[in-house]
Amino acid sequence: MRTATFLLSLALTLGLATAGAVFERACPTDIEAKQYFSVDAYLGKWYEMQRYESYFEENFDCVQVRYELNDDQSVSVSNSAFNLFNGSTINALGRAVLSFPDEEIIQGKLNVSFFGAPNDRSNYWVLDTDYQTYSVVWSCEELEENLSEESFWVLSRTPIMTADRDVLFRIHNIMRRYIDRSQLRFTRQLDERCPVF
Ligand SMILES: *[C@@H]1O[C@H](CO)[C@@H](O)[C@H](O)[C@H]1NC(C)=O
Ligand SMILES: *[C@@H]1O[C@H](CO)[C@@H](O)[C@H](O)[C@H]1NC(C)=O
Ligand SMILES: *[C@@H]1O[C@H](CO)[C@@H](O)[C@H](O)[C@H]1NC(C)=O
Repeated sequence: MRTATFLLSLALTLGLATAGAVFERACPTDIEAKQYFSVDAYLGKWYEMQRYESYFEENFDCVQVRYELNDDQSVSVSNSAFNLFNGSTINALGRAVLSFPDEEIIQGKLNVSFFGAPNDRSNYWVLDTDYQTYSVVWSCEELEENLSEESFWVLSRTPIMTADRDVLFRIHNIMRRYIDRSQLRFTRQLDERCPVF
């Protein structure tokens, strides 16, 4: 296993603050997304709590994402982040659609793209959420044979993660099964320099 060693393009990723970890393996196939997913309940603002670190974006904190419904039922995505070391702000605007809207049981899988790129990859999987408190999001892309890049985010409705034990237990269970904790990074949200996006 090695850590991210090459530049991840903002446009290629989900564009939170660009988060990716590279693994010497194929994408896992046993990961399940949330069933009976509701886009409407998921809309609104989220704060990033943790993510897979990526070398080239390591200084971005205060990451906030906002999801709003478009007229055509797609979702507008606005991701903002602030660099506490040099004061730079990034904002990525995108569009999301359900990956498989005709399925009998809607899964929390979305195709997110940025800067007008086509929504042709199922690259935002909500593994679990209660819509009110937290969301756990994962994605994997094959780079080449036995080499893949995974993204992972824990999102919260508030800048401070809930202390609710049931919620923390659910998140912990997902991490235990799927996540390499050594590559996780906590996102700073409480720094007074964090802008209100
Ligand atoms: C701040 O640092 C990031 C990388 O950490 C870089 O992409 C960005 O260009 C820098 N901005 C300024 C204003 O120096
Ligand atoms: C989302 O991307 C997947 C490929 O990963 C594709 O099969 C699916 O048709 C796309 N969904 C939409 C609504 O475009
Ligand atoms: C990829 O992994 C599989 C299973 O471990 C192995 O059989 C195969 O040779 C690997 N391919 C390459 C190109 O390393």
